[in-house]
Amino acid sequence: MKLILKSLAVFALAITLTNCGEKKETDSYGNPVDKDATAQPEATVDPLLAKGQELFEGKGTCATCHKADVKVVGPSIKDIAKIYKEKGASIASFINGKGEPLVDASQYEIMKANFVITKAMSTEDRKALEAYMMSLE
Ligand code: HEC
Repeated sequence: MKLILKSLAVFALAITLTNCGEKKETDSYGNPVDKDATAQPEATVDPLLAKGQELFEGKGTCATCHKADVKVVGPSIKDIAKIYKEKGASIASFINGKGEPLVDASQYEIMKANFVITKAMSTEDRKALEAYMMSLE
C-alpha cells in the first residue's frame, strides 16, 4: 500500500514538472517571458492629430490667438469645437473661406486675415487642423 502511494506521488510530481517545462518560455536569464508584455505597443497618437497640433502651433500661427481653455484674442479651442460639434459644421471648410462665422461674427475680420495662410495649405493640412481642434472638445 505504501509503495503504491509513493509511486502515485512521484507520478503526480513528474506530471507537474513536465507541464511546467512545456508551457513557460524563458529569456536568457531563465525568467519567464510574457509574450503579451513584450509585444510592440500600439501607436496611441493619431498621426492626423499630431500633424494638426504641429500646424496649429507652428506654420498656422493659430496658437497665438487660440488657447485650449481660455479666450485670448480668439475664442478658446474648446468653445469653438463645442459649437462646431453642436452644429455639425466643418472647421476645415471654414478656414478654406467656405463658411460663415458661427462663434463670434463681431470678430470675424480678425480671423479672416488668417485665411491667407490656411487657404494656401493642402486639404489634408486643413483637415489635420480640424481634427486637432475637434479633439480638444
Ligand atoms: C490674430 C489672431 C488669430 C489667429 C492667428 C487665428 N485666429 Fe482663429 N479666430 C480669431 C478670432 C478673433 C476669432 C473669433 C471670430 C470668429 O468667430 O470668426 C477666431 C475664430 C476662429 C474659429 C471659429 C470661427 C467661427 O465659426 O466663428 C476657428 C475655427 C478658428 N478661429 C481657427 C483658427 C485656425 C485654424 C487658426 C490658424 C490657422 C487661427 N484660427 C488663427 C483670431 C485668430
